[in-house]
Amino acid sequence: MKKTSLLFIAGLWSSLGYAQQKTIDQKVDSVLNLMTLEEKAGQLNQYSGRNVTGPVHERNVNMLDEIRKGHVGSMLNVKGAKVTREIQQEAMKTRLKIPLLFGLDVIHGYRVTFPIPLAEAASWDLDAIKLSAQVSAREAAAAGLHWTFAPMVDISRDPRWGRVMEGAGEDPYLGSLIAKARVEGLQGKGFGDLQAILACAKHFAAYGAALAGRDYNSVDISKRALWEIYLPPFKAAVDAGAATFMNSFNDINGIPATGNKYLQRDILKDKWGFNGIIVSDWGSITEMTAHGYAKDLKHATQLAITAGNDMDMESRGYRKHLVELVQEGKISIADVDNAVRRVLRKKFELGLFQDPYRYSNEKREKQELNADKNRQAAKEVAKKSIVLLKNETQILPISKTVKKLALIGPLAKSNKDMKGFWSVEWENDELVSLYDGVKSKLGKNTDILYAQGCNINDTITSGFAEALKVAQQADVVVMAVGETFDMSGEAKSRSDIHIPGVQEKLIQAIQETGKPVVVLIMAGRPLVFNYTANHVKSILYTWWLGSEAGHAMADVLFGDYNPSGKLPMTFPRSVGQIPLFYNYYNTGRPPLKNDTRYKSAYLDIPNTPQFAFGHGLSYTTFKYADLVLNKSEMNLNDTITVSVNITNTGKYDGEEVVQLYLKDEVAQPIRPVQELKDFQKINLKAGESKNLTFKIERSKLSFYDDDLNYITQPGDFKLMIGSASNDIRLEQKFTLR
Ligand code: GLC
Repeated sequence: MKKTSLLFIAGLWSSLGYAQQKTIDQKVDSVLNLMTLEEKAGQLNQYSGRNVTGPVHERNVNMLDEIRKGHVGSMLNVKGAKVTREIQQEAMKTRLKIPLLFGLDVIHGYRVTFPIPLAEAASWDLDAIKLSAQVSAREAAAAGLHWTFAPMVDISRDPRWGRVMEGAGEDPYLGSLIAKARVEGLQGKGFGDLQAILACAKHFAAYGAALAGRDYNSVDISKRALWEIYLPPFKAAVDAGAATFMNSFNDINGIPATGNKYLQRDILKDKWGFNGIIVSDWGSITEMTAHGYAKDLKHATQLAITAGNDMDMESRGYRKHLVELVQEGKISIADVDNAVRRVLRKKFELGLFQDPYRYSNEKREKQELNADKNRQAAKEVAKKSIVLLKNETQILPISKTVKKLALIGPLAKSNKDMKGFWSVEWENDELVSLYDGVKSKLGKNTDILYAQGCNINDTITSGFAEALKVAQQADVVVMAVGETFDMSGEAKSRSDIHIPGVQEKLIQAIQETGKPVVVLIMAGRPLVFNYTANHVKSILYTWWLGSEAGHAMADVLFGDYNPSGKLPMTFPRSVGQIPLFYNYYNTGRPPLKNDTRYKSAYLDIPNTPQFAFGHGLSYTTFKYADLVLNKSEMNLNDTITVSVNITNTGKYDGEEVVQLYLKDEVAQPIRPVQELKDFQKINLKAGESKNLTFKIERSKLSFYDDDLNYITQPGDFKLMIGSASNDIRLEQKFTLR
């Protein structure tokens, strides 16, 4: 091993730090040239702290000893200014004093929990989504963290897959804009800024297309589907400057993502020019043996580094086999050096070589975590994430002067469930339940009655009697039903996505009392709730709204906020319809309104969803008028300007997400019946009108042909403007010459 005095190293880092004229890459090379092969392997090894988020392969490692020996480049699941400082101090005892990176799954908030990402996607409010990421980054950075394994940008069309809660839904266009907003929110003003942390676009790629919605299952899709549906949000993340990527557990057409050169080198690093870090998912290197793709961990290690995987999260393959694989000539030192450069570059960019402890500041941590401004931000985002599915007899909003209000259901008083899956540093008493929110909203003159009625997921109905008694006494009943927070998330696939247990039976019992009933459904995924959808007049989908859940729900229930959310995923009538999505192909035998004989249809259920992509109501109504295209023909270098007038025709101020869809009428290969190509979320006072403008340019008309050329074909297009994918208000045709 090269002997290098600590004095020399200390002098070197400080000289590097101050020699601003040296570029980051020159500094990186200065360090790389000092490193032994073993130290290089160490930089590519990431261990977890005690709080594990995956299967533990071996426990008998002395982490601090490993760190001191220079065998660790990054730790995950270590958090807090004090602890990260202590662990970083161990890294400063290594020969070269290369600082550690601390990473954690800050998916929707660190101490203040924001709505789950799928809920935020329902806001269609990119500023709100960016704000959520900014606050999450600020708190995480104050807690000593450099890196979050977010945003998860996996498109999914299958609500059986529990991780839909973590993404932005089924649409590549919306998903791409949200990926950009989240990366920009997390990385803020750029590295070096103490509120910026490394974002991580995951899981690369197509993890959301798992067969049968079963987590970690195989993915079998065409390359065209890969490029058209699943890759766009990742490209958006690269364009937004995402510092890191995480690959995925799944195989794609028989090649595990972690060992997939096409994905990691050909597309991400070469075609897209990504110069950040690709980290494996937890154990996904070693799992290539289970896939049957590698014969053992050493072989899996060789396949992973060669395919472009830079850092090894908890397979320990790089720690154990990288050195010998280089010595045996089975992998190139160039691949190892390239990976190490990527890691060192991020450490320089974060300023960790100059000050390894700059993020580990207990005073700043104390000031930042759970700060009122952070909670206020969480409440604002939560309100915008709520979707009004039905309000047929305008029970909502409920008057604040209501005399007797009954809160019924297993989630009415739950604090812990409000956090959803992937919450981090929450305290139960910092999570506001629906009951807490309603109580703090309504004055003394409202009698709030309560009954749990039933549990979430069993067959016990003995609580119905009490619930019925409470309902009978009330003027209005608000019910809170759904899943538990951990019935969606990682490894939480469900073959049956009905609202679990006897909750719909309870809803039916209460509904049949004839009282005005509002049902709030809380979940991390689209659920099936046929009785409720067909019989209850007012339904709000509130997902998991985080720390300020109860206050946000109360604001909507009593009209202090007019709900504005729109579904980012299709809600099926039955799990048997899945995969069911809005941008489908018409087929050669589309069902006719009243004739499904010999058509692409079921005998027992319509093809249409229970609630469509883009659906969401308001307490007010909006009129769409005067759709005007400045021309009806365009050529490839042209732009068509579209204008439309929207009027708030109700008595409440409110927001509307005006959606623009296109259909390429005839194309080879065929194009979907509609594709979201633009939207604007606008705020209109009661009676107010606003003229909106959209631009149609080539990028909105292009698609991949079978040879993966990104093409545009002349022909007719149908332009649709509406309030949902199945609520098109205005249409017009135009032609691409
Ligand atoms: C998990 C997840 C991944 C997460 C990682 C670290 O298995 O798949 O999203 O970032 O491990 O917790």
